[in-house]
Amino acid sequence: MLSVVVLISGSGSNLLALLEAADNPLYGARVLAVGSDNPADGLAHAERFGIPTFVVSPQAFDSREAWADMLLANINHFKPDLVVLAGFMRILPSNFVQAMSPNLINTHPSLLPAFPGAHAVRDALEAGVKTTGVTIHVVDEGVDTGPHIAQREVEVQTDDNEHDLHERIKSVERELLVATVKDIAAKNIHLASLTN
Ligand code: GRF
Repeated sequence: MLSVVVLISGSGSNLLALLEAADNPLYGARVLAVGSDNPADGLAHAERFGIPTFVVSPQAFDSREAWADMLLANINHFKPDLVVLAGFMRILPSNFVQAMSPNLINTHPSLLPAFPGAHAVRDALEAGVKTTGVTIHVVDEGVDTGPHIAQREVEVQTDDNEHDLHERIKSVERELLVATVKDIAAKNIHLASLTN
């Protein structure tokens, strides 16, 4: 059974999709804990499933590295096989990435390498692309630059605003994230082979 810790920063709809999938013992993965950089609304999903949560706020630390070390200490308390960034809106410093790689994946609301960074959906709209989508990738020391694990396209509609497009992207993203974690649990995906 693949053990997972999920990190979030916001509403946690991707987290909820994983929690609901993992509620089925045949899924092959279980969420041990959920962490955040702030008291995010999405932590309530974990509490409802009786799963431990932790908050490690960057403001409480003198450096990003010290913050990341505390985040890592909280994660390692649960000894997960995999850490999933699901709407986690902080850049993780190299000390964290090196400690977790390659068992650290992120979901991003664009077809990387297009539109990296924190405003992917808005950037895609402003660029006027007809198709965008979702990328799930291994986290490396860059910003949204790690090896791709899975991608799925989402068509942009002419009357789309950022919120509507992002909601349509997120419905695809949740499915792809649940399927990807299942494939990692079933050893259909080998993260180490993606990062060599
Ligand atoms: C997701 O689209 C994620 O890719 C992006 O922020 C969104 C988080 O949504 N970084 P939620 O918190 O999972 O609902």
